[in-house]
Amino acid sequence: MVDVILGLQWGDEGKGKIVDYFAPNYDVIARFQGGPNAGHTLYVNGKKIVLHQIPSGIFHQDKINLIGNGVVLDPVTLKRECDTVAAMGIDIKKNLFISQRTNIIIPTHRALDKASEAQKGDSKIGSTLKGIGPAYMDKTGRNALRVGDLLDKNFTTQYIKLRLKHQKLLDNFHFNEDITAWEEEFFEALEFLKTLNIVNGEYFINKHIADGKRILAEGAQGSMLDIDFGTFPFVTSSNTISAGVCTGLGIAPKQIGEVIGITKAYCTRVGSGPFPTELFDEAGDELRKIGSEFGATTGRPRRCGWMDLVALKFSCMINGVTQIVMTKADVLDSFKELKVCTAYSINGEHTQEIPFQLAKVNAEPVYDNFKGWNETPSINISNGQALPTNMQDYINYINSYTGAQVKYISNGPEREQIIVL
Ligand code: GDP
Ligand code: IMO
Ligand code: MG
Repeated sequence: MVDVILGLQWGDEGKGKIVDYFAPNYDVIARFQGGPNAGHTLYVNGKKIVLHQIPSGIFHQDKINLIGNGVVLDPVTLKRECDTVAAMGIDIKKNLFISQRTNIIIPTHRALDKASEAQKGDSKIGSTLKGIGPAYMDKTGRNALRVGDLLDKNFTTQYIKLRLKHQKLLDNFHFNEDITAWEEEFFEALEFLKTLNIVNGEYFINKHIADGKRILAEGAQGSMLDIDFGTFPFVTSSNTISAGVCTGLGIAPKQIGEVIGITKAYCTRVGSGPFPTELFDEAGDELRKIGSEFGATTGRPRRCGWMDLVALKFSCMINGVTQIVMTKADVLDSFKELKVCTAYSINGEHTQEIPFQLAKVNAEPVYDNFKGWNETPSINISNGQALPTNMQDYINYINSYTGAQVKYISNGPEREQIIVL
């Protein structure tokens, strides 16, 4: 069976930490979408590591980590990350595998991302500028270069052809930055990439399934950033939801087992786009400060707000979530009172559904108030039986509203800071 861990909000829910926590129960950990726009933080022996391309199971020596075909891969970021991980004693050559169908991000993709965002003026997506959108455009446009192409003697010719195509677009954008240095780094990184385990990902993973191995698919971004179901156009360019696991790894829907959805105990978003429960007051500043809410990839301050159950229920529905992990409960420890959004008020009408164009309507959050658990901070708890009553009430409410079950509470960034319910 293939279990899935994915984000239920706008990314940064703590997927890295939770994948690292669950990894011992699995044989293969596989990324199925996204690219270096992801920043997954984990703590290994007290040391903070942020992974962008490599799956978060990499620090478990005996586990296979697969970069699936649905991922877009920046060879430069990958090389840098492999160097860091190898310096920590991990044998990359032994436990990292890459699908030959994985699409490659080339330097002009990054340039195009930058140029296209610059032209958007007030309607910027707030992209991480890692080349994600342009790379996925070349995939659906059937122009992309894939990891398996590296072994083809015509690779350079194909590269030049694609680069020339991009150059025309860049000229239209009046983009005239010199990218020679990026290209040098890129070609150096390609040589390194060639030395890694490049496999036929779909046969590779299905063989593991047939052999009874346990697979954990690791999502990037979050469901509200999904290209189809997110707050379009303020989204990323891939299917971040559980359905993406099948196309992003080459496995059949019937193989999907548990869908473990991660939500923060509140909400954050980085980049532009609608965020109904966003706070612009002291409470928002407190969440940012206590939760260290700054992007793991770009360092940008994250926008913070209360838990949005309309969005969470929607995410549970489209993913078929079977269990929820609620992270960053400790960040709420000092709050006397909490709010939870249970509906949106749009032109005076209440709705519990995400509207077609959340970006274009004024969705006012309708809140329920909850007492905080500041008198029994969660940080001191390790046993599910000892949950403060107020936290239990908060969780019961989430369970009954979403129809899914919170099964784990994370109360700190370290691997062992987790409460099993
Ligand atoms: P990801 O992209 O979903 O993997 O999440 P990020 O790594 O971008 O952001 C999550 C941040 O919260 C990281 O700095 C984690 O170390 C941290 N974190 C994860 N779980 C918890 C938690 O339960 N409590 C606290 N305080 N921090 C957490
Ligand atoms: P992880 O995996 C949070 C956001 C960007 C921007 C939009 C599009 O760490 O949760 P893109 O670079 O994909 O063109 O950006 O999506 N975004 C993320 N926000 N966490 C992420 O990944 C994100 N990846 C992209 O901020 O708003
Ligand atoms: Mg992140």
